[in-house]
Amino acid sequence: MKRREFIKSSGLSAIVTLTGSSLLLKACHTEQDMIGEPNWIVEGDFIRPLAVPSTVSNNPQFVIQNTSGQILSQSSTSILSYRNGLLGDTIKTTNGSTVNVQVQNNLDVETNIHWHGLIVPENMDGHPKDLIPAGGSLTYSLPIQQRAATYWYHPHPHGDTARQVFMGLAGMFIVTDDEEDALNLPSGEFEIPVIIQDKHFSGSSLDYSPSDEEIMTGYLGEKIIVNGIHSPLASVSRGWYRLRILNGSTARVYNLAFSNNLAFHVIGADGGLLAAPESVTSLMFGPGERADVLVDFSSLAQGQAVYLVSKKFSQYNVQGRQGFSIMKFIVEATASSTFTLPSTLSTIATIPSSSAIKTRTFDIAAMIGGMGGHGGMGQHSINGKTFDMDRIDETVSANTTEIWEFDNMMGDEIHPMHVHGVQFQVLERMGGRNKLLVTEKGWKDTVLLMPGEKVRVIMTFPSYTGVFVLHCHNLEHEDDGMMLNYRIQ
Ligand code: C2O
Ligand code: CU
Repeated sequence: MKRREFIKSSGLSAIVTLTGSSLLLKACHTEQDMIGEPNWIVEGDFIRPLAVPSTVSNNPQFVIQNTSGQILSQSSTSILSYRNGLLGDTIKTTNGSTVNVQVQNNLDVETNIHWHGLIVPENMDGHPKDLIPAGGSLTYSLPIQQRAATYWYHPHPHGDTARQVFMGLAGMFIVTDDEEDALNLPSGEFEIPVIIQDKHFSGSSLDYSPSDEEIMTGYLGEKIIVNGIHSPLASVSRGWYRLRILNGSTARVYNLAFSNNLAFHVIGADGGLLAAPESVTSLMFGPGERADVLVDFSSLAQGQAVYLVSKKFSQYNVQGRQGFSIMKFIVEATASSTFTLPSTLSTIATIPSSSAIKTRTFDIAAMIGGMGGHGGMGQHSINGKTFDMDRIDETVSANTTEIWEFDNMMGDEIHPMHVHGVQFQVLERMGGRNKLLVTEKGWKDTVLLMPGEKVRVIMTFPSYTGVFVLHCHNLEHEDDGMMLNYRIQ
């Protein structure tokens, strides 16, 4: 009750401030964070070239360490790194391979790696109980047995996940297969990873210090970076490109679009190709989600620029009150390659609802322990529980199908829900937006719930037995305890 009042009054104060000068607001926000307000976006000059993480294949070596990176043009910044720079290398492999990742942890804290979207044995999944001690090492051996898609990886130590991701630990994991290869999608320089994150700086230092209110809403940074560079510029040819977009932010939701409303031809989601491409001009995109998108720049004149932006979606909480540019594309030359958008991409075998042996409901709206944490606002929970490493919350049977229902009907926070160990299909969204997005017509591992929504997903558990987690991928919520264990037996 107390908390709803807080949200209402902070919402009201935002409406009042928004009618004032945005310059004034910007000044306030760079000096100090206003309580209950998101950091106001500070765009850069869009002249630094977009960096692309290097690609490695089957046996990468990671040395997790403190180092520095050039996120801003003027100054270097202390970061955490998997090797040398913000974001780890992109691991690229083919379905059927085994990837061995040798990890040396040179941090003075524990960490581990979760392979987000990959279905791997329990002891390789990066469950928060399986940590690499400070100074320790571990080799992850990952048997890849799944569709071509854009997966990713990041740390998962309970209570420190958000900070470690925010400080630079995340990377892309691309799986290819014959089916996808046969489509001859734009590749090489025409295939660009776009890892979007927001960062809060204090001076030229990355600053991860969420207040109680920011644990409620998620920690929002005022600088939007792509592949580790603030406000970058990509020079492109007049032709087709494939953008593999990953929301690697701890909490920020983007309403992606192009500044001139150029179409996104969406070809894939978290778990790979859709059945057919679908064109949209905007896409809501929550933390942890991926969108595989084709873009045709040939309608633009040489020298013309277009921005990838996030449009306002102000009805939800403190997020989305501002539109802003994420990166700039400038069209330089005519592409020599020719590409025609295929009319079909893949087959998605629909899991029939009738094959589900059980439906489980997860209440993700309630806060618990009102007097306990965050200025009396309570803690984020699932079914009234916060994460307990040693408690098994749900038990499912290997190779069976279930429907899981995430219920945020009574909630006033945004929750991107993620399940380890499976890819699921989204059956329906009730309340709120009341429909499925294009990306939700493919395989998913993370689904975004706005306040007032309920989403049902269906999934078949793998034959890997053991303990996996489900959690909110707003990493502040996750660290706050919005995570449960489930056992596959
Ligand atoms: Cu990307 Cu358990 O998360
Ligand atoms: Cu959440």
